[in-house]
Formats: sequence, structure tokens, C-alpha cells
Amino acid sequence: MSEEGPIVHKVWCAVDCGVAVNPDIIRAQMEGGIGFGLGHILYAEQTLDEGRPVAGNFDTYRSLRIDEMPEVDVTIVASTEKPSGVGEPGVPPIGPAVANAMAKLGGGPSTAIAGSAGRVGMSLFRHSIMALAAGSLAAGLFAFAEFEFRGRANAETQPPTNPVTLKLVSDFDKITDKHERAVALFEEAGKVIQSPRCLNCHPVTERPTQTDKMRPHQPLVVRGEGGMGAPGGLVCTTCHHETNFDPAGVPGNPMWHLAPAEMAWQGKTLGQICIQIKDRQRNGGRDMAKLITHMAEDPLVGWGWNPGAGRTPAPGTQKQFGELIKAWAEAGATCPA
Ligand code: HEC
Ligand code: HEC
Repeated sequence: MSEEGPIVHKVWCAVDCGVAVNPDIIRAQMEGGIGFGLGHILYAEQTLDEGRPVAGNFDTYRSLRIDEMPEVDVTIVASTEKPSGVGEPGVPPIGPAVANAMAKLGGGPSTAIAGSAGRVGMSLFRHSIMALAAGSLAAGLFAFAEFEFRGRANAETQPPTNPVTLKLVSDFDKITDKHERAVALFEEAGKVIQSPRCLNCHPVTERPTQTDKMRPHQPLVVRGEGGMGAPGGLVCTTCHHETNFDPAGVPGNPMWHLAPAEMAWQGKTLGQICIQIKDRQRNGGRDMAKLITHMAEDPLVGWGWNPGAGRTPAPGTQKQFGELIKAWAEAGATCPA
């Protein structure tokens, strides 16, 4: 016991996860889970003041420190069952384990103990029992997680392609009516504009969307100042770096940020998007020449054709797309109805 509460010196851990494919990784995962769980039951506390976290950084948010990490003795139970993978099974049992050790030390978890460990008390004990039950449930989830992982690994070996292609500008020469031709050209370019690669970053809400299914961005991030994310919170560049990071499937670009609300495309018809794109009040003050250059050359737009492993690129190429937009402008930039 210290003033702050109990000090955990040693943890014994046994894990039965089927055939151990890589014992070192299993050990590391158990140790990590135990350190993480321990920090949470002993110290970590987050209170909210009108919905805002009071502890804004690690100077006020206490977690387990490296010199407080106990010695962990991991036993991998021999097994001939299929490998299940190891997710977080190290986390839930550490609560009850510490509570039991405290009970053995005397007094038990129901008596008030100095410092934050006092809060551990009985409620931790109850939560931990629940966590233990959740632990057995989790085993079913690991198989699922592993399945997802394999999906990405396969995607990496086969660079994704888009079955949808773009017609060339010359394919539209036979349309003699200028406005009809413009509409047809824009509709062709619309295959790109309305692809998930572009729509995901032009959402109508404050939150980007992800993947071809365009599900809400995980974790929750918001447009914030200048599209860069919540100031003092999760800014885009915390995770999105200069280039795609394929091992984790994180897209990257030096300019990664969310399109402003007036450039929202999701839920709009192609005609509505077309009118909006031409509107200098809503398109960042771009005249037609600037708009064409943006579409044809902007590197962030260009990311749509280089989205990284496991992600379908926009149809065609940026060059073809730029040519369609240019031809549309030359034909009078008429918008689809
Ligand atoms: C990572 C986020 C992101 C992605 C992905 C993205 N955009 Fe944008 N887009 C932005 C931001 C931010 C702006 C505002 C930039 C500015 O005004 O300088 C913008 C502005 C635009 C504009 C300016 C005019 C307007 O009204 O919207 C066009 C056109 C555009 N994007 C096209 C595309 C196309 C086409 C794609 C897909 C191939 C795409 N964008 C993908 C973030 C993105
Ligand atoms: C905590 C890390 C994190 C932060 C912060 C973050 N992102 Fe992401 N983002 C990801 C990851 C990981 C993916 C890939 C998810 C996937 O494809 O399964 C992603 C995917 C996306 C995609 C989808 C790309 C596509 O077409 O599939 C967009 C758009 C996006 N992020 C925009 C943003 C914007 C804009 C911000 C800042 C306001 C932001 N993200 C902040 C981690 C983050």
C-alpha cells in the first residue's frame, strides 16, 4: 500500500487461446492489457464538466507509469484448438485479481482505502465480476476481429481496382447540342464526384464518413476550425499523415482536412452539386479556370485515385476527370436537371 493506493508488484496470468502461433506477441498483448487495465482500475479518472472532459491531457489524466508496471508472468496454456487470436483478454481479469489481492491483504475491497483506490472499493469489485463475465463473451468477438484482419491482408496482395471506368471526352463528340453535351459530360464526371472517395470528405454534417459504405467516421471527429478537427481535441493530422499508411489502412495527404459545410455534397443530387460547385459564394471563390485546375491537379482531389491498400479508387484517372470537367466548361457548363 502507498498513499495513492495499492502497488501491484507481480501479476500471474494464464491464457488459453488455442494454438499459440506467435507466443511472443501473445505475451506482449497480455502484458499490455494488464498494464492498461491496471492503470484504469487504480488511477484513471475522467470527469465531465458540462460535457467536456476535465482532464485534458496526461498531466491531469493519471495513467500507469512505466516504473509502476508490475512484473508479469504469462503462461500460455498448451492447446490443440484452432488459434483464436488474442484481443484484450488481459484487461478484464486484472480488476478482480487486484480486488482479491487487496482482500487477502486485509480489510478487503469493501473497506475504504486512502486515495483513488478508495474509489476502487466495492463498486470496482462488482464491475470486475461483470467484466469477467464479459471476458468470456469476448472470445466470440476475437474470431470476428481476426476475420476482418484477414480481409485487409488479402486486399493488400491485390491492389484494388474500380470496375467503373470513365468515357473519354471524344465519346461525347457525337452529341451536337452544346448543352446536352455539357450535361452528359458532367454526368460522366459525376461518377467521380459521387464516389465514396470524394463524398466521404464532403459530408453534410460535421462528421466525415468512411469506407465504401460511407459509415460515420470512427472515432467521432468533427470539422472544427478550418476543417482540421476540434481545436484541442482530435485534429485530423493526429492520425492522417503525409502519405497513406497501409499497414493500418489510414489515408494520408499533407493537406488532409474536411471540406467546409457550404461544399457539402452528401445527400444532394448531381444537379444540385453542379450548381453549388459553380457558385463562387460556395466554392471557395473559384472562377471556372480555378475550378478546372482544382479538379485536374489538386493533390487532395488526386488522393481519390491513390487511396491506399484495401480502398477502391475513384473511377478512371484524375487526368481523364480533369478533361471531362474542362470539356464541360467549354460546352457552357450546363448542369444536369
Ligand atoms: C480529405 C478530404 C477531401 C477529399 C478526400 C476530397 N476533398 Fe474536395 N475538398 C476538400 C476540402 C478541404 C475542400 C476545400 C478546399 C479549398 O477551398 O481550398 C475541398 C474542395 C473541393 C472542391 C471545390 C469546390 C466545391 O464547391 O466543392 C472541389 C471541386 C472538390 N473538392 C473536388 C473533390 C473531388 C472530385 C474529390 C474526389 C476525387 C474530392 N474533392 C475529395 C476536402 C476533400
Ligand atoms: C484517431 C484517428 C483519426 C483521426 C483523428 C481522424 N481520422 Fe479519418 N480516418 C482514420 C482511419 C483509421 C481511417 C480509415 C478507416 C477505414 O477505412 O476503415 C480514416 C478514414 C477517413 C476518411 C475516409 C476515407 C475513405 O474514403 O475511405 C475520411 C474522409 C477521413 N478519415 C477524414 C478525416 C478528417 C477530415 C479528420 C479530421 C476532422 C479525420 N479523418 C480525423 C483515423 C482518423
